[in-house]
Amino acid sequence: MMVSRALISFVFSAFLLRTCLATTFTIKNNCPYTVWPATLAGSGSTPLSSTGFQLSPGATFSLSASAPWSGRFWGRTGCSTDASGRFSCATGDCASGAVACNGAGGNPPVSLAEFTLVTGGGQDNYDVSLVDGFNLPLSIAPQGGSNGCQTTTCSANINSVCPAELAVKDQNGNVIACKSACEAFGSPQYCCTGSFSTPQTCPPTNYSMIFKRQCPQAYSYAYDDANGSLYTCVAPSGYVITFCP
Ligand SMILES: *[C@@H]1O[C@H](CO)[C@@H](O)[C@H](O)[C@H]1NC(C)=O
Ligand SMILES: *[C@@H]1O[C@H](CO)[C@@H](O)[C@H](O)[C@H]1NC(C)=O
Repeated sequence: MMVSRALISFVFSAFLLRTCLATTFTIKNNCPYTVWPATLAGSGSTPLSSTGFQLSPGATFSLSASAPWSGRFWGRTGCSTDASGRFSCATGDCASGAVACNGAGGNPPVSLAEFTLVTGGGQDNYDVSLVDGFNLPLSIAPQGGSNGCQTTTCSANINSVCPAELAVKDQNGNVIACKSACEAFGSPQYCCTGSFSTPQTCPPTNYSMIFKRQCPQAYSYAYDDANGSLYTCVAPSGYVITFCP
């Protein structure tokens, strides 16, 4: 009797704990074309129930994460399945060969929505990052919560102002993504490596400033923190991630 009562109480508290710590991610495709969102859990975090799915224009899809959790979301565009059944995308491809990314990240250039969810009344961190370049406009809007919880948006289409040396084009010559200067040139000055590996020695560059001007709330390069690109929120019920906000 004692044992079963303890067991029931344990199962019930475990259930309550899970319920309380669940954070709902709602992904919305506001683009006039299909987007294939993908998710990647950070090391030590449990993968979400889906690591890749298709969203038609106007569609939404919800996923739940149990804090503590860290990971990222991105959108893939121009996806198709070839004659041999292999799925791939023109931007954000994770090279899994399937709609699900199954633990693989998106190939840059790709705009990212990044999260660190915590428990115990601490602050979640979230940001929009263009450190790996840009493919799609996106925003993160916390739902409820306290202490911050501002929406962070990169709504500009940076592809339309991307310099030729950073541009990724499709067969028709349309710019479909914009590389970071680090990816395009690989130099320490743009990648904040070597003698440029501190915030003091890696200031914004003419290239990172193109991204920053278009999307001032997003990370434009590795040491952009000083410009308030990292957002915080305590105990929101969830986050809405919108492509083409
Ligand atoms: C950025 O600066 C580099 C080095 O000074 C220069 O070669 C390049 O043309 C500049 N690019 C832009 C887009 O201003
Ligand atoms: C912050 O961004 C502005 C451009 O919006 C730039 O001029 C400035 O150097 C940046 N400061 C830091 C510390 O990154």
